Amino acid sequence: MIFRHLLMTLAILLFIPSQLFWLWQLRTLGRKFIRSQHLRRWLDGLGVGTYVLALAFNWFWPSPTPEPAHMTVGAAMLEAPFRWWVLSSLLGFVLIAAFYLCNRLGRGVYWLYRKAFAPSDPEGEQLLSPARRHFLARTAVAVSATPFAACAYGLLYERTEIETTHQPITLMRLPKAFDGFRIAQLSDIHVGAFMPAQDIRKYVAMVNQLKPDLVALTGDFITWEGSPQGAVVDALSGLKAPFGIFGCLGNHEHWAHVEDSITRLFAQHGIRILRQENVTIASAGERLNLIGVDYQTRIPFGPPGDGVVAQYLQGVEELMLADTVNILLSHNPNTFDRAAALGIDLSLAGHTHGGQVTLEYISPNISPARLITPYVRGWFQKGGSQLYVNRGIGTIFSPVRFGAPPEITVYELHRG
Ligand SMILES: [Fe+2]
Repeated sequence: MIFRHLLMTLAILLFIPSQLFWLWQLRTLGRKFIRSQHLRRWLDGLGVGTYVLALAFNWFWPSPTPEPAHMTVGAAMLEAPFRWWVLSSLLGFVLIAAFYLCNRLGRGVYWLYRKAFAPSDPEGEQLLSPARRHFLARTAVAVSATPFAACAYGLLYERTEIETTHQPITLMRLPKAFDGFRIAQLSDIHVGAFMPAQDIRKYVAMVNQLKPDLVALTGDFITWEGSPQGAVVDALSGLKAPFGIFGCLGNHEHWAHVEDSITRLFAQHGIRILRQENVTIASAGERLNLIGVDYQTRIPFGPPGDGVVAQYLQGVEELMLADTVNILLSHNPNTFDRAAALGIDLSLAGHTHGGQVTLEYISPNISPARLITPYVRGWFQKGGSQLYVNRGIGTIFSPVRFGAPPEITVYELHRG
């Protein structure tokens, strides 16, 4: 609860000054390049009017019910540009604030140095000249504008550039009959205007082309409203795998209170959602044990109380089979520590979107998902247990992905 309030307070404290800062920068830019005072006034009015309209549409306008499972004019013309703007302006403002703080700190240290060691150095005076300060300020604004380009790239390109990851998994207890068994995973679909049902069908066709033996769906089929649940189930019903399609539920199904209804809808299409349940997958007289759990967390992140448990994976011991490989479908990768303690061989998770907007390729610590988990993306091992965190295919809050392209994972199991 405190964590959520802290995040909200920080976001609001950053949002207001960031908007004022960037609107002022745009106004200054207009003053520089547009000579006609009449045209400048007209553009100022147009800019403020568009901003107010977009703000009202995104934050104060009631969300459409039912939530669409297709792109709409409002989403394309007002929602997407405004969310791009909010994310870019916030990131840019954080950059410029960091630049300003570093600059002030550097100047303070330099001032102390000059006081102590070079009190009459004329070259040192020049380093703090007005021209240099002006140059630094201009550079800071230019650098902090890069998030606008990066987020535009993430909105228009990276968000839809799906990658297929081929992940070999070696398991000591894997029965011979399952050597080479292939599982495809889809996660965090978030059907809506920015993940229309027709795009989901395209990803379903991609999964089918990979010819998996089994498909695992690891939750977050919807976003805020339960209304497009029929559309997402219908789109996913095209999945084909000889050993079946199985899944677990995510936090968004939990928050929208659609766990029961979406499970029933999936069942009507032959897709089985495992809710604190297990199923054995049999081949040539041997078997695998597949377990699924609902979303559970120990970090209060969503609506009060929802999904918060005293201990992860309570009762899962009774679903495990001692003589074979146990595979767990759990939306939240934070269950992995407990899964490893229980001796679950392989956990498949999602939830983080790989950070969604992240600079993980510069440093693994630059990712918002690290606020909620150490398991942001990819493969992990702990003792004899393994975890893979899929980056998902949908988006949340802002329809932007940067440094975290959408992903289909194909696991090939091997004895070893
Ligand atoms: Fe998600």
